[in-house]
Amino acid sequence: SLPKTVTIIEVGPRDGLQNEKRLVSTGDKLAFIKALQQAGIEEMELTSFVSPKWVPQMADSKEIVASANKIGRQFVLTPNERGIGAAREAGADALAVFVGVSDSFNKKNINKTTAESMAALKPLILQLKEDGIFIRACISTAFYCPFEGAVKTADTIHLCQQFVDWGVDELSVADTIGMANPAESYTLFKQLKEKFPETLLTAHFHDTRKMALANIFAALQAGVDRFDTSAGGLGGCPFAPGATGNVATEDVVNMLHRMDIPTGIDLNLLYSAIEKIEPHVSNPINTGMYTLYKNR
Ligand code: HMG
Ligand code: MG
Repeated sequence: SLPKTVTIIEVGPRDGLQNEKRLVSTGDKLAFIKALQQAGIEEMELTSFVSPKWVPQMADSKEIVASANKIGRQFVLTPNERGIGAAREAGADALAVFVGVSDSFNKKNINKTTAESMAALKPLILQLKEDGIFIRACISTAFYCPFEGAVKTADTIHLCQQFVDWGVDELSVADTIGMANPAESYTLFKQLKEKFPETLLTAHFHDTRKMALANIFAALQAGVDRFDTSAGGLGGCPFAPGATGNVATEDVVNMLHRMDIPTGIDLNLLYSAIEKIEPHVSNPINTGMYTLYKNR
């Protein structure tokens, strides 16, 4: 049977904007975040504490964390000790760390092999858990790598197992380049659900090949009830060639509501949030539901 309710983790302000070439002002980002919260979003990735040389759009992370409302669970993404320190100083109490299963992608993204990243993260995560900080571990290239192709399921599960052993609260397992199909989604998420029943499990789909909604339905059948989505379908990792945006929040919410699975999100207020950010990004937003709304 399918989950009775679903939690949406909005990643628009972070994944959605990190690949946007036009710099969006801090005020416009904060207005977007506020409008998303008003639409009923209770978990969100606000920003990331990464090198501004690598990702210029996230250079204002300190102001974003300091100014955004801390309704529900507001994550910031951090790759290393420096980012974790700065995020906590700014007032973040829920952190997301990120690692790729495949070495080539992890090298391109954070300039370390996967094993080097894990060795550096282990003491940091153990300390954060002692301090009572909520930790979400984002697992990139869980299905396919843009440089190495298909990723072994056993490697993805092994990486998840290490994080679970260190006590992380949540695994967010990602199809970074939008290449997984629904059969692969079901198979991996079913195994993860069975192996890690005590850990929150979230699916993070990019929609490069328009399989994200089908992948979400497959993950629902495997028991997953948390999904990372991005308002307006914005997003993509700058270091994953060929990847496009995340699955659109409005399309996922519409599908779930049509299936009588509540999310707590008000679609009309969500469209208002997208209207706030659309003028500040390079391309017009044309997701299924938002386009219907614009042409109403
Ligand atoms: P590096 O060059 O190996 O590291 O980069 P470094 O320690 O030599 O630092 C380079 C410079 O960055 C130095 O400054 C540091 O001080 C500074 P300089 O001395 O040159 O002036 N620095 C920092 N500044 C601010 N915050 C920090 C920080 N750390 C160092 N935390 C590094 C290593 C990790 C920093 C770099 O590779 C980086 O920033 N990568 C970020 C990549 C990124 O943001 N990718 C997108 C997010 S992941 C994603 O989108 C996938 C996901 O959505 C799931 C999925 O879809 O797969 C989560
Ligand atoms: Mg992503």
